[in-house]
Amino acid sequence: MQLVTEDNITELAARRWSSAHDPRTAQVMAALVRHLHAFAREVRLTEPEWMAAMRWLTETGQISDDKREEFILASDVLGLSMLVVQMNHAFDAKATPATVLGPFHIDGSPEKEFGGDMSDGLPGTPLYVTGTVRGLDGSPVAGAILDVWQADEEGAYESQIPGIDEARLRAKYATRPDGTYCLRTIAPKGYSIPMDGPVGELIGGTDISHFRPAHVHFLINAAGYEPLITHLFQEGAEYLDSDVVFGTKQELVVTFEARDPGPTPDGGEAAGSWLEARYDFVLQPV
Ligand SMILES: [Fe+2]
Repeated sequence: MQLVTEDNITELAARRWSSAHDPRTAQVMAALVRHLHAFAREVRLTEPEWMAAMRWLTETGQISDDKREEFILASDVLGLSMLVVQMNHAFDAKATPATVLGPFHIDGSPEKEFGGDMSDGLPGTPLYVTGTVRGLDGSPVAGAILDVWQADEEGAYESQIPGIDEARLRAKYATRPDGTYCLRTIAPKGYSIPMDGPVGELIGGTDISHFRPAHVHFLINAAGYEPLITHLFQEGAEYLDSDVVFGTKQELVVTFEARDPGPTPDGGEAAGSWLEARYDFVLQPV
């Protein structure tokens, strides 16, 4: 007979979960049991609090679907997503740092030419992002694919807008033989994470800022290099010091320089004023 006490319940449960057939699952589940129990002991969790937590988890699942990822959002605002990124992408100090993927990346974006416009006439200040992709030794990386995505002027991503059946503010660009790339888009704005769900309800009861600073997302793939998931943030943007998902790093903050009408980095000509962000990505070899 198994006589359970407050003192032995943790060891009993951890031992039971250590019987998982897969060794890694056994390790993870036994540790999860120990840490969950330690958490409950530390805060002396009450039954109403336990029930409130169960309801919160249920609602977080119920509001999620193939486009809304409330659990990822919960992980993001707790700092767990960024911790996992940091632990798993410990690049060389010279390499461009990685950040969170976030919930808004969509596979299969259309390929655009050097300087191609991924904003397709959407309202906003024209922004050219241009520079090189290089290895740690400075050698240019030809044929690297930059998968780029961002929010519109209202802070909305494609997946948040109903009825969209074409790629919106997302595209893929390849580097040229000398490692250079150039994309044309519109200046991103800072935005709030979705506040109409269980995560927003929780944050609403705190002093936490629920905004992200203005940024463009990048996923860069090149043969022989680690994939790089990162963002570029606008220098001087609001919320740089309080990014709700902990994604900002000084190395990823870039100046959006104001430019007058005239020649653009893709060899074209701008009729109005525009912005230019220059950034050289450095990839970590495999
Ligand atoms: Fe974003």
